[in-house]
Amino acid sequence: MKARSSFSGKLGYVLAVAGSAVGLGNIWRFPYLAAKYGGGIFLLVYMILMLTFGYALIVSETALGRMTKRSPVGAFQFFGKSIPFRLGGWINAVIPMLIVPYYSVIGGWVTKYLFEYLRGSTEILAAENYFPEFIANSFSTGFWFLLFSLVVVAVLIAGVEHGVERVSKTMMPLLVILAIFVAGYSMTRPGAWEGVKYFLIPNLKNFSWMTVVAAMGQMFYSLSIAMGILYTYGSYIKKDVDIEKSTTQVEVFDTAIALLAGLMIIPAVFAFSGGDPNTLKAGPSLMFITIPKVFASMGFGRGAGIMFFLLVLLAALTSAISLAESGVSTFEDQFGLSRRKSALVMGGMIVGLGMASALGFGVLDFVSLLGMSILDFFDFLTNSIMMPVAALATCLLITKVVGLDRIAKEVEQSSAFKRKGLYNLFLRYLAPICIVIILISSIANVFGWITM
Ligand code: TRP
Repeated sequence: MKARSSFSGKLGYVLAVAGSAVGLGNIWRFPYLAAKYGGGIFLLVYMILMLTFGYALIVSETALGRMTKRSPVGAFQFFGKSIPFRLGGWINAVIPMLIVPYYSVIGGWVTKYLFEYLRGSTEILAAENYFPEFIANSFSTGFWFLLFSLVVVAVLIAGVEHGVERVSKTMMPLLVILAIFVAGYSMTRPGAWEGVKYFLIPNLKNFSWMTVVAAMGQMFYSLSIAMGILYTYGSYIKKDVDIEKSTTQVEVFDTAIALLAGLMIIPAVFAFSGGDPNTLKAGPSLMFITIPKVFASMGFGRGAGIMFFLLVLLAALTSAISLAESGVSTFEDQFGLSRRKSALVMGGMIVGLGMASALGFGVLDFVSLLGMSILDFFDFLTNSIMMPVAALATCLLITKVVGLDRIAKEVEQSSAFKRKGLYNLFLRYLAPICIVIILISSIANVFGWITM
């Protein structure tokens, strides 16, 4: 039997989880959701969810992974072989496979922007309609998407994820420094202060039920929970890693980066458009519209653009690779495929589903899935529907089968379980109830039964 690889120590584990948590979710997705769903009130709801719900789920997944020494499909089947166990494991395992294709589309956009900054197109990128015209050009988006996915697939086949890991560890601090700098610049533009207030001060007027739905989806996404990743990581750690403490560290780090990204982008939206609600609701394109404007207004915009998109590209690449990697290992473990075959199957999925998402703003823009573009649809399907179900499966597995006591024992092997009361309350009542309410309302919203 192959010995299971393990992390070298506590720090190695925290860094690996933080590395998987910080990605496009923080820099690209968080700011546009915060802008769209209410600013300060979104931030507040997000924080509350993260410290309660997110916390309970990270602890659960990690403890189950460490207890069973298996990734999600195996971990569920460790406790039973019947259909519900299979479904629970599989839904966790399938989510990353559905995310990585559209993640790679955004990766392609980032690559294109880096290329343009290298060419010196600082002003052109800041033009009003540059971005919508770019994504409507199927040939161009398709090309940049394919380029990005080819790199991902090449790395998967070569299996050099450890080299990538190292790259991301040196790049992350650089990205943080650059982000602090850009956020400082963006916040001091004339008119930007309104944006800072909009982003940081909760205003109940901007609250809608969708604020909660979006915040919960983002919390799963950003912390890499409800998709089996933390089972796998948990299965690599030894009994001496303090699960509670490392969870807190990861949450603080992940949120700090998301806040910085928000401070980089939202004040800039106000400075350049006076807080126009249409710009605020721009959605996935927000980063690609405001950041180039900020850079074009700076003296050394080209240099900043190159640095920024290079670092975001690296963060995106490492995340895409680890997402795809989890798909590859599922294929290997469950179907006994070779690494190469698994990587090719995963590559096929990326190209097929991703191409549809990429072209969804161009030649396929007549396709509307429940009123959304293809990319938005996959994002919605995974984050707002499947992840809550996956999280529910984990809650049920623990409360109905494993037992809260066994989780507590697992956590207590390394440290006292200080928030056990909160944890139990969440798993037993609050989490399942919230998940079900949120699921029903997000489905009802999509079908137009209720408007939120
Ligand atoms: N959390 C990452 C982000 O914010 C995305 C992500 C989710 C991820 N699950 C992952 C990255 C697993 C790597 C591995 O962008």
